[in-house]
Amino acid sequence: MNQKVLVTGGAGYIGSHVVRQLGEAGYNTVVYDNCSTGLPQSVLHGELIIGDLGDIDRLYQVFGKHQFSAVLHFAASLVVPESVAYPLDYYANNTRNTLNLLRCCSVMGVNQLIFSSTAAVYGEPQENPVTESTPTLPINPYGRSKLISEFMIQDYGLASCLRYVILRYFNVAGADPGGRIGQNSSNATHLIANACNAALKRQSELKIFGTDFPTPDGTGIRDYIHVEDLAAAHVDALRYLERDGESQVLNCGYGEGYSVRQVVERVKAISGVDFPVIEVARRPGDPACVTADAEKIKQVLNWQPKYNNLDNIIYSFLSWEKGKI
Ligand code: UD1
Repeated sequence: MNQKVLVTGGAGYIGSHVVRQLGEAGYNTVVYDNCSTGLPQSVLHGELIIGDLGDIDRLYQVFGKHQFSAVLHFAASLVVPESVAYPLDYYANNTRNTLNLLRCCSVMGVNQLIFSSTAAVYGEPQENPVTESTPTLPINPYGRSKLISEFMIQDYGLASCLRYVILRYFNVAGADPGGRIGQNSSNATHLIANACNAALKRQSELKIFGTDFPTPDGTGIRDYIHVEDLAAAHVDALRYLERDGESQVLNCGYGEGYSVRQVVERVKAISGVDFPVIEVARRPGDPACVTADAEKIKQVLNWQPKYNNLDNIIYSFLSWEKGKI
């Protein structure tokens, strides 16, 4: 029989790409999502249950109805400046709700977990690229809400049969190469989405947040990863846990950093649109530079990225956005 897995946040941007790949790989998926930012039509496989992780009674019902072999936990809030403005919402939605989920796993005997963590747990690293043993010193509530979740998972793993893979995502962008799903851009706040929206004249300009960072061109540097490669890492992680792999914390990035100016220049070149750019003050909670050392995930999961190219990421994001006009 095919394994049945619970995917929280499976109607969201990253979760829906993973559900699609899991379906193609033969898994039965049950998505649990409150659809606050995700879209029902993005769930291309299995069952969708509209529910909130804050509702633990409902969660127990779902666990009681299905026999899950594993849980993939995506549901979360993820916008750094929003977390600075509304920290309690981030601790509730990210940290408390992860605790709810762990409780259900514990009571209902589900012992495999894949958790969506973030490069934001590293804060402003002293050195780049960061390895998984680089000290975690998050500089915003978003990163802290995820790091506390990591601690809970690790502590519970030590005290139980739970085995987990914590994936620390770097900057995710791009869309399904088949053009079926992509990000719900009304929620998108990230650089590539904003620059593509400026190129498509859906916003009047692109703002560069901070030009006085200690980086070669003064703008923030990030490691951009294609959502399709990130989704594949989850399928690899699930198979790893099914092979009795031991618990892991793994960076998910390519190990290449691009500045805001470099990204803007590539979006202009690929779209052929020279949209207006204005330089404004730094955003609260933004580190200067974060890039991944991604060797461990390749070794442990045999993860083989296929779309490791900034132009590819921008092109697929732009194509998805254009298709929606
Ligand atoms: C993103 C993720 C976060 C993840 C982190 C990992 C989102 C919404 N957030 O945050 O969950 O933990 O990567 O590194 O996907 N910028 C501009 N103009 C814009 C938008 C952004 O100049 O219109 C700059 C930012 O100041 C920053 C860089 O672009 O220097 C990247 O910002 P953004 O794409 O918002 O992602 P992160 O904040 O890094």
